[in-house]
Amino acid sequence: MKHTITLIPGDGIGPEITAATVRVIEATGVDIEWETQILGAQALEKYGDTLPEASIEAMRRNKVSLKGPIMTPVGKGFTSVNVGLRRALDLYANVRPVKALPNIPCRYPELDLVIVRENTEGLYSGLEHVVVPGVVESLKVITEKASTRIAKYAFDYARDNKRKKVTAVHKANIMKLSDGLFLECFYKVAKDFPEIEADDKIIDNCCMQLVMRPEQFDVMVMENLYGDILSDLCAGLIGGLGLAPGANIGELGAVFEAVHGSAPDIAGQGIANPTALMLSAIQMLHYIGERDAAQRLETALFDVFKDGTTITKDLGGTAKTNEFARAIEEKIKAS
Ligand code: NAI
Repeated sequence: MKHTITLIPGDGIGPEITAATVRVIEATGVDIEWETQILGAQALEKYGDTLPEASIEAMRRNKVSLKGPIMTPVGKGFTSVNVGLRRALDLYANVRPVKALPNIPCRYPELDLVIVRENTEGLYSGLEHVVVPGVVESLKVITEKASTRIAKYAFDYARDNKRKKVTAVHKANIMKLSDGLFLECFYKVAKDFPEIEADDKIIDNCCMQLVMRPEQFDVMVMENLYGDILSDLCAGLIGGLGLAPGANIGELGAVFEAVHGSAPDIAGQGIANPTALMLSAIQMLHYIGERDAAQRLETALFDVFKDGTTITKDLGGTAKTNEFARAIEEKIKAS
């Protein structure tokens, strides 16, 4: 079956890692037509808008997108494209598997957990204002609808992927109303999944537990800010940001992207590690039903890591981005 997928090369290392990822996807023989669109600073220059309607319309029409990182300058005058995009497509579930790769030195080589982050509200609702000079309010929004929807997604994910436990992460001891509502919705949904264990952890304790005994976790569900922070923490447990994939799933579409950003410090040098985006692409291939292609890509990627001779600089090797992609491509073609 032919698929049309929106491709957003992105900023910084984005074009380098998306090119490498498209190359290895195409090596699997899966029939994909790529429709390239732009967002962020490039779109601002061309259309006068960081989130142009043409790109959003293509992402809605094609339903599935593969996206490189988009740069968001810190400070005033440029709202986050990623936050805007998640809202425009109602990409409410951010799914970030945390699994170590073969042969990569890391703290927890056996770790295998999944973070499900609520992507549309919480402290990222964008509701900030100056009350009087020197005093700023930033509003956290938690709704029953979004909390129930994300809890249901986490339990459905656990059921579909034969996972045993879902843990809600919160700070309901302090934010009794907002995180309290999140937790209440979580336990209501849990009742419909009696075969899956449900428990909860307060965010600060959870950070310590993740560093000391991460094997106790399986699927973890949380609101936006906690998910943003914990997924980077978890990336550190398995070898770093260059290895952490992600999927943004919603009713109107799905966007697959790495957890890391545009890495301006190494952009244009051809040394970026495309592994995280390739792992996101594997999630994407599963999502569009191309399970065989997903498996072949995963096996080839893991085999290159097992060989250990073609590894990018961030992981201690000397391979360039395109040499790494070529090694995977050769494994796929030989399989
Ligand atoms: P970053 O993730 O771009 O970089 C952090 C460090 O990790 C840098 O030293 C970088 O060289 C390294 N790194 C990241 N990805 C790598 C890869 N694939 N291979 C090798 N090394 C890699 O985070 P930073 O510097 O905080 O953000 C840069 C820009 O990216 C910002 O404008 C930020 O807003 C944006 N960003 C975009 C995201 C997205 O589009 N989903 C997500 C996170 C940040």
